[in-house]
Amino acid sequence: MTAPIDLSLLPRSARVDAAGRLSIAGVDLAGLADLYGTPLYVYDEDELRARCRVYQNNFPGGVAYASKAFLCIAMAKLIAEEGLSLDVATGGELHVALSAGFPAERIEMHGNNKSEDELRYAIDAGVARIVVDSFDELDRLERIADHDGSVVAVHVRVTPGVSADTHEHIDTGAEDSKFGFNLASGDALAAARRAAESDALHLTGLHCHIGSQVSRLDGFERALHKMAVLVREFEDATGATIEECNVGGGLGVRYTSNDDPPPIEQYAAALHDAFAKALIDVDAKSKPRLMVEPGRSIAAPAGVTLYRVGTIKHVPGIRTYVAVDGGMSDNLRPVAYGAAYEAFVPTRATADRPLVATVAGKHCEQGDLLVRDATLPADIAVGDVLATPCTGAYGASMASNYNKVTRPAIVFVHDGESRIVVRRETYDDLIRLDATS
Ligand code: LLP
Repeated sequence: MTAPIDLSLLPRSARVDAAGRLSIAGVDLAGLADLYGTPLYVYDEDELRARCRVYQNNFPGGVAYASKAFLCIAMAKLIAEEGLSLDVATGGELHVALSAGFPAERIEMHGNNKSEDELRYAIDAGVARIVVDSFDELDRLERIADHDGSVVAVHVRVTPGVSADTHEHIDTGAEDSKFGFNLASGDALAAARRAAESDALHLTGLHCHIGSQVSRLDGFERALHKMAVLVREFEDATGATIEECNVGGGLGVRYTSNDDPPPIEQYAAALHDAFAKALIDVDAKSKPRLMVEPGRSIAAPAGVTLYRVGTIKHVPGIRTYVAVDGGMSDNLRPVAYGAAYEAFVPTRATADRPLVATVAGKHCEQGDLLVRDATLPADIAVGDVLATPCTGAYGASMASNYNKVTRPAIVFVHDGESRIVVRRETYDDLIRLDATS
């Protein structure tokens, strides 16, 4: 006897019918697997939109969706329709956004090592701002602006020296970062001054990002305090004020029943409170807007991946392996970060789950395991569909063709209907870049 599946790991439209079949947005999950094949990424469009709206309502200073979490043309369009801004971190992400018709004036260009080509692409497209990450990039931007006669709007990315999910006295490690300008060394202030004083640049704000899948709020609060101190130092040094502080993304999600991140509303209230207090503490003149850049907490809970079981092996006295038709090529997170997931059989969602088994992928690596110690129905069999909830972020976006496996299709579901937003790769796609002679 084991606990039934935890529906709260799925989009809020998840329902189990009298026959024990699981649906999302009124669409039967196993039916989707039959229709489109597996593996399949399925997104509940209303769940994506609902999460965007909670962010929009709770951060009047602005929300930029971090496209690295999950991006395709349909997603960029959805984000545009919901009125959010978009964080892109490479020329490639920028290209997808622009191809979707995403308004350039709502795009922020990130990246710790942007090439001159990427910077030119972003500036020519008319992005809202470039988030500057290094002195070399400041040089590069000034060269481009001098050449084109343009003035480039920039945020300065700061490394606040705060690590996520840890306590203050052990937070110094976060200064060892390839991102941004170090705060403690004075580089952050120097970069902000330089941007403010340059004829080629217009300093529009400061930025920081402390980490990802963060469930404790104190790290964000400490980062905001450090940002407020920098705002005051900048005011003292230049006499100017700061219009905006962007505290990045990072709010965690519930991958399994053991995860307990705060809701977006609580996170928003804590951040606004901490920032307002910090600005009073330092007696700042500036009244910066507080902006955030969530990726995972918008995309992850809206996504489910569907697989089909291909073989089951009982290794006596050791474990049972349930192998599916995907793996580390469609979800790298278990291998890369030891990330934990759960697995459900969507045709038997109310069944007891007494079998403890390891869900393995199909790649040629022993480490290609998707879910360790999944609890599954005792009668799980070859041919069953298996679903892993909360796989909407950093799954498709980090997918690969390892072992020349074709990448899955992506389907959006809404109001009882499904539609392909990214088609499944074919074997021919695998050789489309090869020189054949
Ligand atoms: N802003 C910046 C500057 C970032 O670097 C990131 C994530 C975000 C926003 C969005 O953070 P989120 O809200 O998604 O936590 N591949 C890893 C996550 C890498 C995150 C990188 N930066 C994973 O699968 O856990």
